[in-house]
Amino acid sequence: MRPICLAAAVGYAILRGVTALGLSLSQESRTGGAGASAAIFAQVANTSVWPELRGCIRNVAEAARHHPGLSKLDLHVALTRADAALEDEVRRMRTEIPGLSDAFASVVQNRGADIGEFMQQVQYVHQHSSNFSYDLVLKIHSKSSRGNWRRRMLSTLCGGPGQVRTILGMFGERPRLGLVGPYKLVWTYDTPNEDVFGSLGDYGFRVGDTERKMANTWEIIYPGEHSFPPRDRYLISGGSMFWVRPGPLLSDEFQSAIPKFLSVWDEGYNRSCTTAACDHMFALERVIPTIYYGRYRLDYAQAPKYQNK
Ligand SMILES: *[C@@H]1O[C@H](CO)[C@@H](O)[C@H](O)[C@H]1NC(C)=O
Ligand SMILES: *[C@@H]1O[C@H](CO)[C@@H](O)[C@H](O)[C@H]1NC(C)=O
Ligand SMILES: *[C@@H]1O[C@H](CO)[C@@H](O)[C@H](O)[C@H]1NC(C)=O
Repeated sequence: MRPICLAAAVGYAILRGVTALGLSLSQESRTGGAGASAAIFAQVANTSVWPELRGCIRNVAEAARHHPGLSKLDLHVALTRADAALEDEVRRMRTEIPGLSDAFASVVQNRGADIGEFMQQVQYVHQHSSNFSYDLVLKIHSKSSRGNWRRRMLSTLCGGPGQVRTILGMFGERPRLGLVGPYKLVWTYDTPNEDVFGSLGDYGFRVGDTERKMANTWEIIYPGEHSFPPRDRYLISGGSMFWVRPGPLLSDEFQSAIPKFLSVWDEGYNRSCTTAACDHMFALERVIPTIYYGRYRLDYAQAPKYQNK
């Protein structure tokens, strides 16, 4: 289970230089090139928030452009319904935004909210692994239900090129760093409440039967293993925007679970849904970070504070 650093000769290879359970955190098919490769995965269910996401994307591109270790930055935008103008805008971004290597827009099934849309994106990238290979991924989404969270997440993860440079530097220096969540929105079972935004701490793992729901969802991904981690290895990234090394999401186990989740989720998003399928969707906000911290034993960190956020 212990991740090890692959000794890599050149460039920023340290960004991709972690394996866990024998899996490289990037795909092996990467060819040549000195630098690491990153991608932004944006889930845009509500297009009125797009300008904020575009600002984030520009900041990441600006930072990537001047970052010696990063040789590639792709953008993957998932929409839940066709939008010719937005799809066209995304495709033009590859030429209009210096620092962006390529940009793709696709329409995905509106299932499982942003997590379900993200799963479809990582499934696509995995299925086309000869074309796409990333060492680092930023997940952002429109999160229109809570504007204050969204602004905190976007500002601390990608509010300016300097903020992004700091986070790239954190990954570069720490081979075992698996996930960087927003300032005061990434926490463990034991994180003191005052270190969590809006006194949300208890909502991580201590309310209702959250732990049982997490364990049920874990069982879908790792059936029969009885490998659900102990409490001190739970992690949540509240709101599900984060930077991660993508290896765990590209693993066979996680990829095999994606169609299972997609087949039980209904079209659309219903916040008050309490079916077993919806329980999985809400549990994944905790289970995905817990895979990093509890299964692969990678470190997590908060993004630095950004201005007043
Ligand atoms: C993958 O790359 C090949 C060769 O460059 C290209 O022909 C193909 O269209 C690409 N597929 C995708 C999904 O980008
Ligand atoms: C989309 O986002 C805007 C801005 O946050 C919000 O006012 C609107 O209610 C959202 N629409 C839906 C369908 O959630
Ligand atoms: C959302 O789910 C709740 C609880 O399951 C249900 O009562 C409600 O009718 C659903 N709303 C929609 C729009 O499907």
